[in-house]
Amino acid sequence: MACYASSFTIFTEGFAGTVEWAVAFIVMTSLSSVAEIDGPRLLERLRALGRVGKDASGALTRLALSDADKAGRDLLVSWLREAGLTVTIDAIGNIFGSWGDFNDQPPVMIGSHIDTVINAGIYDGCYGVLVALSVIETLQQRGTQPSRPVMLAAFTNEEGVRYQPDMMGSLVYAGGYSLELALSAVGTDGSILRDELARIGYAGEIAPGGVRPACYLELHIEQGPVLEAEHYTIGAVDSLQGISWQRLNITGAANHAGTTPIAMRRDAGLAAARVITFLRNEATSSGGTTVATVGTVRFEPNAINIIPSRAVCTVDLRDPDEQRLQAAERRLSRFLAQLAADENVEIEVERLVRFEPVTFDQDLVRRIESAAKARGYPYRRTTSGAGHDAQMMAGICPAAMIFVPSREGISHNPLEHTDEADLMAGANVLLDVVTGLLA
Ligand code: HGY
Ligand code: MN
Ligand code: MN
Repeated sequence: MACYASSFTIFTEGFAGTVEWAVAFIVMTSLSSVAEIDGPRLLERLRALGRVGKDASGALTRLALSDADKAGRDLLVSWLREAGLTVTIDAIGNIFGSWGDFNDQPPVMIGSHIDTVINAGIYDGCYGVLVALSVIETLQQRGTQPSRPVMLAAFTNEEGVRYQPDMMGSLVYAGGYSLELALSAVGTDGSILRDELARIGYAGEIAPGGVRPACYLELHIEQGPVLEAEHYTIGAVDSLQGISWQRLNITGAANHAGTTPIAMRRDAGLAAARVITFLRNEATSSGGTTVATVGTVRFEPNAINIIPSRAVCTVDLRDPDEQRLQAAERRLSRFLAQLAADENVEIEVERLVRFEPVTFDQDLVRRIESAAKARGYPYRRTTSGAGHDAQMMAGICPAAMIFVPSREGISHNPLEHTDEADLMAGANVLLDVVTGLLA
């Protein structure tokens, strides 16, 4: 797409009368109205939102429905309103910013999430939401008359750190989880989601999912090492792996660390440790397709000289192939039964989340590839190791994702980074794909 200079000098001596000057002015401004994404404004917003929820140590944490999340939401809504969008909040707290008349045409929906994990980076989710806003502003500046509305979405609780399941707002929106179950969710801090949503002022009236988009596009950092390692700028994401989350409640018996012979112990802590090593062996023996993580472990009574009577840990199992993921779950289940017998402990398994692998819309993926090619960006098809709102939206409309590289593949970590040129490339590709969808 040719870019016309947005600033120009009018050579008045070249124009004899006012008419010629006015015609020249109109021609030049119309040429310079092929607006592009405003890079400095996008980067400033990313940094500004990235400052919301930083604690004294500089760690960024905006867990869903926390005061920090409220502050981030309020900032985003203020930007949406400045851009003249119609802002709506639904009953699970999803935020939408709509542009264009809903003249019975379903919207093109673009977005992601702005809640974060603990001690997060500034790009995960936020990049996709803020570029969605920049895309709409650019289309406005171009004077585009959209054939259908464009709807920005910032979904509630994508990360699932405080409340499970993750991708909750989009899952409820897509009809995959009841609103009542979501509102009743008990947080890791004992809070009730419904109360927190009301407390931060984002308990909307609108039933989630009332508007079925024509399609959904999500721009996101890759959060993995592939694009950078293979020197690609754009990932056209055509699939997303299956996710299985479980919580294990292991009950043994507290006893004296010094006097209790090993053979007499009912050590819940040891049992949890054996789960962790079992899962690492599972992942290693899968040849790299299965990944397994025990991200949280809690011991009780948690004292240096007491054998743990209880251990609560979570299991995150993922694989691109549904059959392999089911087989891994079955092997874990058999292992837990044997472990309970070996260590004389009880193990209660609570299923938290189970999402099958998703294949995204081929036409949208091709549009992403064409847009990257037209801009001259190196691109490849890729799959997503992380969960995203797009996987839920794929259940109700054509959906696809655009990835940009993550430096050293790092994410869910304050060192998360994507170079500005890559951030802009992803923004341009989203802009061009949306422009094509509105033609
Ligand atoms: O867990 C995930 O993959 C996402 O970051 N919620
Ligand atoms: Mn994300
Ligand atoms: Mn994330």
